[in-house]
Amino acid sequence: MSSIILAIETSCDETAAAVVEDGVKVLANIIASQDIHRRYGGVVPEIASRRHLENIGPVVQEALDQARISPAGVDAIAATYGPGLVGSLLVGLSYAKGLAFALKKPFIGVHHLVGHIYAGFLEYPELPLPAVCLVASGGHTSLFYLVSHEERYLLGSTRDDAAGEAFDKVARALGLGYPGGPELEKLARNGDPQAIHFPRAWLEEDSLDFSFSGLKTAVANYLRQRKEAGLEINLSDVAASFQEAVVDVLVGKTLKAALKNMAKSILAVGGVASNRYFRFSLKRSAREAGIPVFIPHPVYCTDNAAMIGCAAYYQYLRGQFSSLDLDAAPGLPLEVL
Ligand code: KG4
Ligand code: ZN
Repeated sequence: MSSIILAIETSCDETAAAVVEDGVKVLANIIASQDIHRRYGGVVPEIASRRHLENIGPVVQEALDQARISPAGVDAIAATYGPGLVGSLLVGLSYAKGLAFALKKPFIGVHHLVGHIYAGFLEYPELPLPAVCLVASGGHTSLFYLVSHEERYLLGSTRDDAAGEAFDKVARALGLGYPGGPELEKLARNGDPQAIHFPRAWLEEDSLDFSFSGLKTAVANYLRQRKEAGLEINLSDVAASFQEAVVDVLVGKTLKAALKNMAKSILAVGGVASNRYFRFSLKRSAREAGIPVFIPHPVYCTDNAAMIGCAAYYQYLRGQFSSLDLDAAPGLPLEVL
């Protein structure tokens, strides 16, 4: 018997709804991005929340229309309940709970990072376990050890900025728009990644934690010193060298985690995993180490609701439903995964 899940994701500035069948078949995947934040150079929580309110109804309707399914035809309704911006989370979560109540359907609350991880299972349901999974997004950079659908462990996390956050901040320093990641990647294509040596924070010998704030500061110092000395700045070289430093650490630590834990595969997800240079570098290193690597299509790396629908499907199979009292949890810890 197949199960059709309507999933909603509004943890940051994307209003997203998807219809997913059996955790693998995406019948609809609608994402309304809020371009308005560009003019402020970052997400303005109050505006994000209001835009979600305007978008949520039409976005859910569009997902149902595209999937050619009536609300009564879905088997469960899922939504992200944290972590994220509280005003944003509340819109999608309340909408989903309201629908579940009205339609008398089970409701499933999903942890945003579990959602990111399940972007991997959406496309590769048979990916070999145990796996090491890197989640590199705008809010998080963590390594997980996935044993089964019921068992996973946190191996390491960033101690300061997330990788995507570093991309956004450096992009801003280079005068690029928001979100900075994709713009910086574009600029880096014409640059020399070896032009400037920016520091890599490898931390303690055994550590699988990350740190990107020093790198961000190093780029800012470089730009300031060149400016003060009246020297020319090759922005493409700065972008390429910065990107190289981030990718070097992300790939190095992910490989290390996989080898140390004898993982059968590597999975990389989150907005930064849509970066082409990162994808290429991780695949090359993993091939050399003889470990299969899986990276979802870019549209499933950045925030979307299909990944939430896939995560919800595995919870559905376990009968892991949520109460309609479930509150938004903006600071939901990683350990609750
Ligand atoms: O996963 P995501 O869509 O949202 C969060 O949960 O944070 O990740 C967004 C982050 C942003 O910081 C964005 O700049 C970064 O992912 N990102 C990229 C690229 N595309 C998105 N970073 C580097 N290269 C990209 N192509
Ligand atoms: Zn995300």
